[in-house]
Amino acid sequence: MTNVKILGAGSIGNHLAHGARRLGWEVTLSDVDPAALERTRSDIYPSRYGSWDDAIRLAAPAELGNERFDVVILGTPPDTHIPLALAEIDRAPPRLMLIEKPLSPPDLGPCSELVAAATRAQVRVLVGYNHRLTRHTALAAEWLKDSPLGEATTLRAMTREHWGGIFAAHPWLAGPADSYLGFTARGGGALGEHSHAINIWQYFAELAGCGRIVEVACMLDEVRQDGAAYDRIAQLSVRTEHGLVGTIVQDVITRPAQKWLRLEGSEGYLEWQVSVDADHDLVRLVEHDGRVREERVAKTRPDDFRGELEHMNALLGQPQAPSPIDLDSGLETMRVIVAALRSAREGRTVRVER
Ligand SMILES: NC(=O)c1ccc[n+]([C@@H]2O[C@H](COP(=O)([O-])OP(=O)(O)OC[C@H]3O[C@@H](n4cnc5c(N)ncnc54)[C@H](O)[C@@H]3O)[C@@H](O)[C@H]2O)c1
Repeated sequence: MTNVKILGAGSIGNHLAHGARRLGWEVTLSDVDPAALERTRSDIYPSRYGSWDDAIRLAAPAELGNERFDVVILGTPPDTHIPLALAEIDRAPPRLMLIEKPLSPPDLGPCSELVAAATRAQVRVLVGYNHRLTRHTALAAEWLKDSPLGEATTLRAMTREHWGGIFAAHPWLAGPADSYLGFTARGGGALGEHSHAINIWQYFAELAGCGRIVEVACMLDEVRQDGAAYDRIAQLSVRTEHGLVGTIVQDVITRPAQKWLRLEGSEGYLEWQVSVDADHDLVRLVEHDGRVREERVAKTRPDDFRGELEHMNALLGQPQAPSPIDLDSGLETMRVIVAALRSAREGRTVRVER
């Protein structure tokens, strides 16, 4: 039976523990904070999924020593991702590792170290941009294959979501300064926390054959308050290697949230939306000659992670198969985050080098 160790018994750790149990995996959930383990058992897991699952092993990291796992998931704050990943690879390399988004704080040096270590130890590393693997995204990709929309003329994406929901789910945090969320430099702020928009923009640019982002011009709205220092709005203008120009907006202030993308083509457009209402994602493809396809895909919150976990399960059986969430794609998103910060600080357009 596949066994998984999840580091970080917080919000995402609970979602992924639940998803892994649905696949029949043996789950060990570990956290440096004993209060987080207790909260998982008595509060987060039962309130989200109905009851606690006694088959889940809760453990402090020190209890696990050099025990080897097929899969390791890092569901901890971004500034712990690379050091923990390197330590796991060094101690007992798993077959597959999923690192939550964003891959790291905005610093590419440690990311390169991770690429080298993972390559040496032959550990397949993925980055948790789960929206690439939801059902409505798969449907959008299929429809784009059938109806390529002519020349891609622009692409827009946004993840605009007030972070009150995150703080409501973490009542033990007094505010942004209490966690990485309140610090762009630690992988928080709109640029890091809502980097789903950059990542999904990159995915649809790839699907449309427009290549990678090579230029970024960014404006940030930065806040310094009560000890926190974060961007609350990040507005990016980007250009790909094949000349597609588009926009990406991420913020932590919009209520209700807008998680939306639109690919414009000479022959029509595709719209994609997460949580168009509480129970559905949406995909719509309109061809200018009159054909319209639209589907509201029913989903629950656990479904947001179902595709990602099923994909990981499949990769264990086919380790060489390609992945839309491989380390390189997470790294490409980090490169854009780093370029966006430089662009905003220096007031100029920045090239995005590999
Ligand atoms: N893909 C998504 O949709 C999604 C959703 C939520 C969170 N996330 C990402 O997941 C990560 C964690 O977010 P969260 O909201 O779950 O945070 P959280 O604060 O709820 O949980 C993080 C947990 O990690 C623990 N931790 C810290 N250092 C550790 C270590 N060295 N070893 C073991 N445990 C450690 C903390 O004690 C805490 O309990 C972030 O990178 C976030 O962006 C992704």
